[in-house]
Amino acid sequence: MRYRVPLASPMSQSVSDSQSLPRPVRIAGTGSYVPEHVMTNHDLEKMVETSDEWITTRTGIRERRIAKEGEFTSHIASEAARKALEMAGITGSDVDLLIVATITPDTLTPATACYVQQHIGATHAVAFDISAACSGFLYAMEIARHAIGAGVYQNALIIGAEKLSAFVNWKDRNTCVLFGDGAGAAVLTPSTNGCGRILSTTLGTDGSQVELLNIPGGGSACPASPCGAPEQSATLAMQGREVFKHAVNAMRAAANRAVELAGLSITEIDLLIPHQANLRIIDAILERIDLDREKVFINLDKYGNTSAAAVAIALDEANRKGLIQPGNYVLLVAFGAGLTWAGAVVEW
Ligand code: UT7
Repeated sequence: MRYRVPLASPMSQSVSDSQSLPRPVRIAGTGSYVPEHVMTNHDLEKMVETSDEWITTRTGIRERRIAKEGEFTSHIASEAARKALEMAGITGSDVDLLIVATITPDTLTPATACYVQQHIGATHAVAFDISAACSGFLYAMEIARHAIGAGVYQNALIIGAEKLSAFVNWKDRNTCVLFGDGAGAAVLTPSTNGCGRILSTTLGTDGSQVELLNIPGGGSACPASPCGAPEQSATLAMQGREVFKHAVNAMRAAANRAVELAGLSITEIDLLIPHQANLRIIDAILERIDLDREKVFINLDKYGNTSAAAVAIALDEANRKGLIQPGNYVLLVAFGAGLTWAGAVVEW
């Protein structure tokens, strides 16, 4: 029997919108990293009752990366961070705000951001984690851009990083085929020369749906010790079909809202980078918004769902492939446990 998180309240949906700031903020560099080890669908066939055919047709995922022993979320995050810093032309010691979005921290406390601070020498940075599941990277972007926009910080490093392999029940075919490890990062700075800025963001939360997707054990509700929570309670549990419906609706709405707040129409978007959970979710969103399929960046076939890292890895890969050029409008959308969702439009 799994421990079930009690439902605290009825519907509690809230949405927060914001537009370009008086002191505009741009993305000055991106980076990403995935562990070397590739786990294919065929590898999973040997572990649970599944098939490459089922996983590919139901999700679009073909393989995922798995961190090696001793490689923690902070290590994965730091590799991505180094690449983002290099692209931005700054070093760790130039960073004054460091936010890691993760649901798979190295330890419950201190924050994974504190380990990353050490690994990359961000000795002048205020560092902390946020937990907003797959929307975490865009939540971090929103916090960082307001902190920079207010004139308090200069160089923010935001990272979405996960070692989900440590929190997956490898005996549960409903979930273990879906997730992978990885990290993506971005450096945010003031947009002084008028080139590039984050035009809009929209964030949403619906705490009435906490039961749909969670890791119920390991927190104060069901501590891992000393009472000894059942082993499986510290692994991901998901009501897939329900989450699917919410994901489509929330990301469609977030996409439209972010575009509207940016003062654009959807046809002006050059590239959509959606959360990489399931190809069928992305297809369902595309059926509901007026955007050509070739304007969508997809890499979930290679990495599966990397939660907070997914949008960040995809953004970096698209950037390094030259798919994003100065002046382009990039639409980012995410959805995850909470429920949380987010959208943002960035003028590159
Ligand atoms: O990142 C946060 C957001 N997460 C998501 O957005 C994930 C959202 N959900 C999904 O992507 C999909 O719901 C899943 C991929 C998780 C599942 O796909 P589905 O089409 O909703 O399948 P289902 O859960 O309705 O299951 C259909 C059948 C079931 O068998 P029966 O009851 O029809 O006999 C499952 O037991 O597929 C079975 N099944 C599998 N079969 C082979 C479930 N997992 C597997 C598997 N291999 N790995």
